[in-house]
Parts: sequence; C-alpha cells; structure tokens
Amino acid sequence: MPANCHVTPQNAKAPAIVEVNTLSEDDQAINPADHYGVTPDYSIQVNGRNTIYSNEYIESKYMYEMNHCDVDHQAKEVKITPRKYQYNFRTKRQVQRTGVMLVGWGGNNGSTVTGAIIANRDKITWMRKEKVIVLWTANTERYTDVRPGLNTTKEEVLQSIADNDDEISPSNIFACAAILENCPYINGSPQNTLVPGIIELAEKHNVFIGGDDFKSGQTKLKSVLADFLVSAGLKLESIVSYNHLGNNDGKNLSAPQQFRSKEISKSNVVDDMVGANHLLYDKKTNEHPDHVVVIKYVPFVKDSKRAMDEYISSIFMNGINTIAIHNTCEDSLLASPLIIDLVILTELMTRITYSTNDNEEYQTFEAVLSILSYLLKAPLVPSGTPVINALFKQHRCITNIFSACAGIAMDTDMLLEHKTKLPKPMKVQL
Ligand SMILES: NC(=O)c1ccc[n+]([C@@H]2O[C@H](COP(=O)([O-])OP(=O)(O)OC[C@H]3O[C@@H](n4cnc5c(N)ncnc54)[C@H](O)[C@@H]3O)[C@@H](O)[C@H]2O)c1
Repeated sequence: MPANCHVTPQNAKAPAIVEVNTLSEDDQAINPADHYGVTPDYSIQVNGRNTIYSNEYIESKYMYEMNHCDVDHQAKEVKITPRKYQYNFRTKRQVQRTGVMLVGWGGNNGSTVTGAIIANRDKITWMRKEKVIVLWTANTERYTDVRPGLNTTKEEVLQSIADNDDEISPSNIFACAAILENCPYINGSPQNTLVPGIIELAEKHNVFIGGDDFKSGQTKLKSVLADFLVSAGLKLESIVSYNHLGNNDGKNLSAPQQFRSKEISKSNVVDDMVGANHLLYDKKTNEHPDHVVVIKYVPFVKDSKRAMDEYISSIFMNGINTIAIHNTCEDSLLASPLIIDLVILTELMTRITYSTNDNEEYQTFEAVLSILSYLLKAPLVPSGTPVINALFKQHRCITNIFSACAGIAMDTDMLLEHKTKLPKPMKVQL
C-alpha cells in the first residue's frame, strides 16, 4: 500500500484502497478524445497504476461494482446495497497463430469468408497453426431430442455417439470432437447442437463453446428496435417477420423440421426485454407480443435475401403505431464478417484469465462463452444465468470486459466534464 493512501475506517477490512493525492497541475487537461489520424499500426499503451505490462501479459486490477437488491414485499421496501468485488485480469499478449475449421466450408458463408481472407493473403500465414477454432457454418439441422439416456450428461452423449444413435446429429459429433481436441466450438446455425451433455463435456474439459445462429440481419435490427420500443413505453403488441431467399440455405429451410429450428432461434429474441418490463406486460398472465416468423424459398432472388417486418405498438391514449421495414441484402455478406469476429473474439478469450479477492488462482471464463451473444441470435449462456438479447447491452458487455482487462475506465456516457465543474484528477490505485 503506498504511504500516501488514506483508508477510511469503515473500509478498513476491504481489500481495496482508494482515495489518494491529486495529480500535478500540468496533468489536468481534459482528454479531447480525438482519434483523428490514428491508424491500425499505432500501438496503445495504458498509463495507469492498475495496469502492468510484462513481455508475456497485460495485467489489470479491476473493482467490479454491482448493486445487490433485497425486496421485502411485506414492508413494501426495496433495499439496494452497492457491493464491490476485486478482480485481477491477465491477458496473454502473444496472439496465437489461429486456424479456423469451418464446417460447411464449401457453402455460401464458408466460401465468402475464404474469399475475404484470400484477399488479405499477404498478411495471413496458415502454416504452423497453434490453436484451431471449429465453427459450424454447415446447413441447419433439425432439432435433436434431449432426454435422459441420450445426451443429458457427458457420459450419455459419448456413449450415444459410440452406439451410433440415430438422434446424434453430425453437429453433435463435430462439437464433441472439437472439445476433446481442446478446440473451441461455435455453432453458427440454429439447431440445438449444444445439448446439456455437450455443455457438461465442455465445462469438464474447460473448452469454450458458443452459439447459436449468426445474428446477421433481421434479428439484429429486431433486438435494437424492440429494446427501443419497450423501453420507451411503446407497448409492442405484434411482430411479424417475413423472409424470402433463393440460396441453398433458403432451400434447406423450406423443409419443415429445419424451419422449426430457425423459427425457435428467431422467436426468443424479444423475451428478455418484454420480461423485464412488468409495467407494460403482466407477468402473472405471461403477457407478451404476438411474434410470427415466416421463411419462404424463392430461387430467383438467389443470395439476395429479403426481410420484411411489421411492428405494431399500443401508444398514448390507446393509439396504434405501426412500423414497416423492408431490407434487401446478400446473405453471406452479412454472415461472413460475423464468422471472422466470432473467431477473433474467441481466440482473445482463450488468452484471458482472472483471479479474485477470494481466489488467487488464475482461471478462465465460463466454458459457455456468453460474451459472443452480440453476434448470435439465440445466445447460449451458462445454466441459471440471464440471457441478454438487447444489442447495445451485449455490445457494452464486450467493451466493458475488455476495458476491465486493460485496467481502464469504462465509458459511462455521463460526460460530467461537460455538465459540471470537474475537480482536479486524483491518482487512484486498487
Ligand atoms: N446471413 C446468413 O447467411 C446466415 C445467418 C444466420 C445463420 N446462417 C446459417 O449458416 C449456415 C450456412 O449458411 P450458408 O448460406 O453458407 O449455407 P450453404 O447451404 O450455402 O452451405 C452449407 C454447406 O454445408 C455443407 N454441409 C451440410 N451438412 C454438412 C455436414 N454434416 N458436414 C459438413 N458440411 C456439411 C453443405 O454441403 C454446404 O456446402 C446455415 O445453417 C444458415 O442457416 C446463415
């Protein structure tokens, strides 16, 4: 603990030390946050006491603050207690040579990703790969059954594969093989590949898995628009999403069982936003907007997918507000950048470990990589944890975790420097 630190008596037992002397007069200019002229070849260095650089790691100390909420229904009282938890994040600096194994490589998305990478060929080396990430961009499968004896534990699923059980899908086999080879596995399609037994297998082997279904167009817009409408008090009553497309994916999705997989992954996207707003929607009656998804195969339009959406909301004085959207775009041009981002994010997560105030041993994040939710339609999350679909929350989750890993302040959007008289900056150390 630095000699000039002041520890307040009520915090005497807390592991964190805050409140120190202020910076010199010379150091007090407000950062103009002007990135003009900064190109990707610039290096970034964090100049803070909570961030330590070594040849191998960037280490940061980070105080995670969370509000603990106690509801006493009898007393009609809500008590909020701010709590603090100390984390030490460690990020390996050496980016691993990473190969990606695309299941469905010869298809629309696989070939588009390959084309994009070949365009960058001079900067990419495929030799001596150290880490391989396996990503399913093959066709959508039907849902498999989930039942005891088949795939609810890791032992069951491995035994069912050994028995060549009919309910084991090709993607189940790819996922298990990837996990057993210590390779992260990402499911870019909607089917339920990541059944409980496979999740358990990934947790046991400490291998990252992520899914389901690339969030490329219509669903991405829906997660923004529904969040806006519901949080603005414009009660969403009906969402109807109609698509037609003429590529091989469209043909495959015209089969009822495969369509059902897509329908499920597209349908849950507004659930958390509706569920969180008990002022608009009655929880007791499970009130929620009507939500219908239609997908039709029209060969003539080929890869140029059309998405038409109608959003109807009840507004002030029982008025009705209808928004209609028509979107046309090449399907694989939306999905391929997501594939690259999923691989980059997953590779980075394999280099991050953390310790906490009550466990000094460094460990990895949970095997179910929910940080990928921003890029996926039906985010898979660790059991018992909330599914977040609101797009900007998902985006903030990524930027905040990486800010914490770098030991820098999160962007709170308060901009107090423009709204108050900013005091002298203080040197703060955890
Ligand atoms: N915007 C998008 O393109 C988008 C968005 C979300 C999800 N997806 C999903 O991504 C997947 C791929 O889309 P696409 O347009 O590239 O499809 P595609 O039909 O063009 O390509 C799929 C490829 O997978 C191969 N394949 C099928 N089963 C396989 C298996 N068991 N093992 C290995 N390869 C197999 C096929 O031969 C084909 O080459 C689909 O499931 C689709 O629903 C796409």
